[in-house]
Amino acid sequence: MSTTTLDLSLRHGAAADLDLGRMVEAERVHRRVFVDPEVFELEMDRIFGRSWVYVGHESQVPNAGDYFTTQVGRQPVVMTRHADGAIHVLENRCPHKGAIVCPERSGHTKRLVCMYHGWSFEADGSLAGVPVRSGYDNTCFDPTNRANGMRRLPRVENYRGFVFASLVADGPDLKTWAGEGMRGFDSVVDRAPEGRIEVIGDCFRTVQNSNWKIFIDNMSDGMHTSFVHYQTARAAKRTLEKFKIEHPGGLQVATLLAGAPDQMAKTDLVAHPNGHFDMAAFAPEPKGLDAEKYKAEMIARHGETGAQAILGKNFHNAMLFPTALMQPSLQQLRVIRPLAVDKTLLEIWVFRLKGAPDSFTSRAITAANIGNSPSNLVAADDFEAYYRVHAGLKGPESEWVRLSREANRDIAVGSSLKGSSGNSEVCMRNMYQAWSQYMTVR
Ligand code: FES
Ligand SMILES: [Fe+2]
Repeated sequence: MSTTTLDLSLRHGAAADLDLGRMVEAERVHRRVFVDPEVFELEMDRIFGRSWVYVGHESQVPNAGDYFTTQVGRQPVVMTRHADGAIHVLENRCPHKGAIVCPERSGHTKRLVCMYHGWSFEADGSLAGVPVRSGYDNTCFDPTNRANGMRRLPRVENYRGFVFASLVADGPDLKTWAGEGMRGFDSVVDRAPEGRIEVIGDCFRTVQNSNWKIFIDNMSDGMHTSFVHYQTARAAKRTLEKFKIEHPGGLQVATLLAGAPDQMAKTDLVAHPNGHFDMAAFAPEPKGLDAEKYKAEMIARHGETGAQAILGKNFHNAMLFPTALMQPSLQQLRVIRPLAVDKTLLEIWVFRLKGAPDSFTSRAITAANIGNSPSNLVAADDFEAYYRVHAGLKGPESEWVRLSREANRDIAVGSSLKGSSGNSEVCMRNMYQAWSQYMTVR
C-alpha cells in the first residue's frame, strides 16, 4: 500500500485541486471524505443526486389523498397516494414560483394547494386549477394543460412496500442496483405471517453532529460495542436482574453489548456491490407462548421447510447505501438524511409485522425507545463517538483514517465479500470503494 503523503492542496482543500480519485485507498480513507464541505456538495450531486434514495413506506400513505414530505438529496419531495391507489413522488415545489407546496411532515388533502397564489394539484402532480386563468390568455403558459403541474421524480419504484426514488432517469433498476443488499428488506417482510408490514405511528428524529458516513461506517463495526456501550450495557444488565420485565426487547439487546472486544467475531458480516452490506442478527429470537404461536402460524403459511428458511435467516443491520438501514431483528428502519457535512438527520421507523402477536410490536417499540429514541442511552453513546471522530478529523495535520482490520482475508461469496470474522472492516472498505466509484463517475 502506498504511504505517500498527499500534497498540501489535498490536505487543506483548494477547490481546483479536489482529487476524489486519491481519497480512498485499499486500507485507508482521507479525512476530507468526512469533513470537506466541497466533498459534501459533490456527494449531493453524484451519490444522492443519482442513486436510489429511500423515500418512505407505502403504509405512511395508506389512503388516497395522504402525503408525506422528505428530501431526496437536496430536493424537497412529497410522496402521495393518488385516487387510483398509485403512489407518486413529486418535487415539493410549485411550478409557478417555486414555493414549497406541502410544508407539513405529513397530512391528508383532497388536492395539494400552494399557499402563495392558490394553484392546486392532484396527488399525481397534475395541474388541477389556476386562479384568474384569463391572465394567461395569449401567453406562453397554458393553465389548462395538466402536465404543467408538480414534477414527478424521473424514477420511482415500490419494492414490497418500500418506496425509493432517483433524481435521474438513467441507471440500473432498483432490484439490480440493490442486489443482495435487499435481503434484509426481504427478511423483515417475509417474517410477517401475512407477508406485509406497516409503520407504527410517526418516526423518531435525531440529529448527529457528524458526517453521515461516520454513522454508516459504525453500522458494521461490531467491535465498538464493548467499549462505547459498556456502561449502558452494564446498567441494562442490572435492570434486568433487579426487575421482572415481561418483554425485555431492547434492554436485552443492550446487555449484549457489554461483552469482550472479540464477542462479535462470530457474527457474519457481508459486503455487497454498490456499498451495501449486512450484519447477521446476534440477539436471541423471542421465546415463550407468543413465539411458539408465531412459529406455528409461519409453518401453517409456509410449511416446515419454508418457515425454517425464513426464520433461519435474520439480520441485525442491513444497509442499502446510502440511505436505508433496515434492522429486521428489531423491526426498525433507520433512514439517513444528510443535512450538512457535519449534520445528519436520522429518521427511525418501527414496523408491525402483520399477523404477528402484539407482543412482537411491543418488543419492537421498546427496542426503538431504548436503542434509538432521542432520549435513549445506546445511540447517545454512539453519537458522542461520531462527534469525536468528526471533530478529530477536522484537524488537517494527520490525513488518513485506517481500515486495515482483517484486510486481505476477505472471503468471496458470489459478487459479495464476507469478512473473515465479525470484527473485520470489510464492509467499511467496500463502502468507501463504492463511494469512490460513485464520486469519480462524471
Ligand atoms: S408560487 Fe405557487 S401559486 Fe404562486
Ligand atoms: Fe453503537
